[in-house]
Amino acid sequence: MPRLHVNIDHVATLRQARREAFPDPVAWALAAERAGAEGITCHLRKDRRHVQDDDVRRLRDEIATVLNLESSLDPEMVAFALESGADAFCLVPENRKEVTTEGGLNVRAEVSRLADAVPALAERGGLVSLFVDADLEQLDAAREVGAEFIELHTGAYANARGKERAEELARLKEAAEHAHRIGLRVNAGHGLDLENVGAASTLPHVEEFNIGFAIVARAVWVGVDAAIEEMRAAITRT
Ligand code: PXP
Repeated sequence: MPRLHVNIDHVATLRQARREAFPDPVAWALAAERAGAEGITCHLRKDRRHVQDDDVRRLRDEIATVLNLESSLDPEMVAFALESGADAFCLVPENRKEVTTEGGLNVRAEVSRLADAVPALAERGGLVSLFVDADLEQLDAAREVGAEFIELHTGAYANARGKERAEELARLKEAAEHAHRIGLRVNAGHGLDLENVGAASTLPHVEEFNIGFAIVARAVWVGVDAAIEEMRAAITRT
């Protein structure tokens, strides 16, 4: 069964809406761990719209599980990641106008920047993952630049309905199998929620789900403990 890593960005989004000190995403991450989160993920964006530099430092110092830092390939952000002490890194595309990460990395187009960033981050002791769509060519390119993991973008699956959703799940399955075959380890995430995570849990080789928005939104109603417990139960109920 995939482990549940919880993305805390949107606790920081709520705090930044008023530029207050609360709700504190680090305290919330600690509560998420107590409720069963097996890792904490955050995305430090160049525009600092939600997570701030100091949040990353405090997460590194205070959480008991593992810290997965999402970063773009922007040189300033890679430099921060290199010094962050995070346990794992996920390299993602970033576009200033997007509401959230919209697609996977174009690994082929970014080979030269990735060929520098991936080994440099790995040397700092972090597991390096590339966030990619279910596209076999991108997976081959991820292998070529030396990534340990890919994180499969589940957004198209989550947004699809009926027959299209089954097709997206089949594409993810083929991608997970291909990644495994060529020696990549597999994570998955984006858009997963209580309703769609069960079927996603049937994907082969997936070690970890990164789930944020659905858990934070649900916690507004039921609190962090119940939101994490419900999601973990939904992952198991395949
Ligand atoms: N994985 C990656 C690489 C992401 O960029 C995000 C969104 O920040 C997530 C997972 C989590 O997506 P969601 O908030 O839709 O669960």
